[in-house]
Amino acid sequence: MSTKIRNLENIQNVTYGLKKLFEDAEDFLPLMGTDYVELYVGNAKQSAHFYKTAFGFQSEAYAGLETGIKDRVSYVLKQNKIRLVLTTPLVKGGKINEHINEHGDGVKVIALWVDDATKAWEETTKRGARSYFEPKAEKDEDGEVIRSGIYTYGETVHIFVERKNYRGVFLPGYKKWESHYNPEPVGLRYIDHMVGNVDWGEMNKWCEFYAKVMGFAQIISFDDNDISTEFTALMSKVMSNGNGRIKFPINEPAKGKKKSQIEEYIEYYKGPGVQHIAVATNDIVKTVTAMRERGVEFLYVPENYYDNLLERVGQIDEDVEVLKKHGVLIDRDDEGYLLQLFTKPVVDRPTMFFEIIQRKGAQSFGKGNFKALFEAIELEQANRGTV
Ligand code: FE2
Repeated sequence: MSTKIRNLENIQNVTYGLKKLFEDAEDFLPLMGTDYVELYVGNAKQSAHFYKTAFGFQSEAYAGLETGIKDRVSYVLKQNKIRLVLTTPLVKGGKINEHINEHGDGVKVIALWVDDATKAWEETTKRGARSYFEPKAEKDEDGEVIRSGIYTYGETVHIFVERKNYRGVFLPGYKKWESHYNPEPVGLRYIDHMVGNVDWGEMNKWCEFYAKVMGFAQIISFDDNDISTEFTALMSKVMSNGNGRIKFPINEPAKGKKKSQIEEYIEYYKGPGVQHIAVATNDIVKTVTAMRERGVEFLYVPENYYDNLLERVGQIDEDVEVLKKHGVLIDRDDEGYLLQLFTKPVVDRPTMFFEIIQRKGAQSFGKGNFKALFEAIELEQANRGTV
């Protein structure tokens, strides 16, 4: 498989490569998309307010004391196809509190939308996945949802969600969340990819997990020569499912003169976890302008990044001055180009952040921006005294 993958990297044509890779293989885990992402947080009510105000998410559903849940509260937010669930415990002790105590606010669940959650659990556990919970049916007057779960890196889990017999707002036990406060969406459409940071020397192990246990294939790989600055380095491989709707880049630290952002993450998250959630927009300038006005802080690359931009990426539809003003980064591959921008961490620890991405043909991940980006992150690390 590895020769095939290396060839892929050479042809740099991800869509074509993906088709080739999966051509002959039976997809034992058909995934229809990301169903929801659940974060365990210290104060779900206030986090929900932040994601509504700053990111333009809409109030969707709620579970807590008022719906008969005694030990926790969950707010569900939605923007186009993206569902965020924010959960805080209402009681002392227990797994959610332990998770928050250990990791701070962070992603616990990457839920995947499937047609058959029982089969998804059987197929993955028989290939070596550690069970999080066995398939179980949850019901209310709107029908039935079947969910099952497996562990992935760190304490992060995948929950398979089968909702074909459900008409309710989110899951049984949730009610519609009506709010008088509904800030406009900012144009976030769907989750493009979600990146995991894993420990030293563990990238290949987790890529193998996604290949063997979930039937994913590696579509791109970057070594420390691709992703390094004068001071820090990391390595990354991108795993994708058969239809390309689920893409999980996996990063591990690499040796550098100073401590890399991945080491910093692992140190503060106390282990592997989700580093960033990349969300797609059709108009990055509009999205980023709105988010910045609402208080989101983005990483800034040095101004000279834009000096010979057009020589590097060729003709683009956007006005370079406008992109420069907003700090938007551009990269091109064989299939087109992409525009991207990264927020600073959105939680107190220097851990999780968001990427805003607009794809104009390109299916890759902005390799040409890595250096500028990591230099910008190193500046932030220097401010934190963690480099
Ligand atoms: Fe990304």
